[in-house]
Amino acid sequence: MALTGAFLFGWIFAHMAGNLKLYLGAEHFNEYAQWLRVMGAPAMPHSTLLWVARIALLVAVWLHIQAATQLTIMNRNARPVDYTGRDYVTASYASRTMRWGGVIILLFVIYHLMHLTFGNLHPDFVENDPYHNVVTGFQVWWTSAFYIIANLALGLHLYHGLWSMFNSLGLNHPKFNPWRRNFAAAFALIITLANVSFPIAVLIGVVR
Ligand code: HEM
Repeated sequence: MALTGAFLFGWIFAHMAGNLKLYLGAEHFNEYAQWLRVMGAPAMPHSTLLWVARIALLVAVWLHIQAATQLTIMNRNARPVDYTGRDYVTASYASRTMRWGGVIILLFVIYHLMHLTFGNLHPDFVENDPYHNVVTGFQVWWTSAFYIIANLALGLHLYHGLWSMFNSLGLNHPKFNPWRRNFAAAFALIITLANVSFPIAVLIGVVR
């Protein structure tokens, strides 16, 4: 869970950083999207590295879901009788919503791919013009609302997941733990604020 989570976190961070180019305008953003397709060239043929990243991403998502399912089953088997009137003392809201958060993020990614990659759920999709696709896509208010809600769910998921990741990797020590909490909070906040800012910037006309 932790290893695949670390890989997915790295990818989500890189994707967010790349998407900041939206604020530099169409030329920069589309040039970056084009670079994703030619990275690795001329050593490798067109799109090879992109496909390697896509396959690694798919495998990581699959293993992450597998590990989550196994953990859930182990958890349930460890306590066959359900809690009555459970009083949460140490479990945060973020930690208690990991499973539902995961489902929302998965549904979001499926919608997101059909929206901005394949374009079949986009009102005015133009091949090889991701800037146009993002701007016209986010001008639909309910699409933006869904992106915002899903990215808030992603933020909560990352906040607990990043903290828990260090635990699973054995990095649990009183000296290290406050740093671990701050790392999780800072990265969850940076990613959420940036990702939520994109649809808002389009809706208020800062990006057009
Ligand atoms: C508001 C925030 C986001 C924006 C503006 C955005 C934008 C985009 C765009 C424009 C593309 C298509 C790129 C291209 O075809 O060149 C894309 C692809 C993708 N995005 Fe996002 N994205 C956002 C958030 C996310 C999040 C949170 C995730 C994952 C949890 C995600 C996962 C993906 C994936 C898997 C692809 C396909 C990459 C590929 O195979 O080429 N995105 N995104």
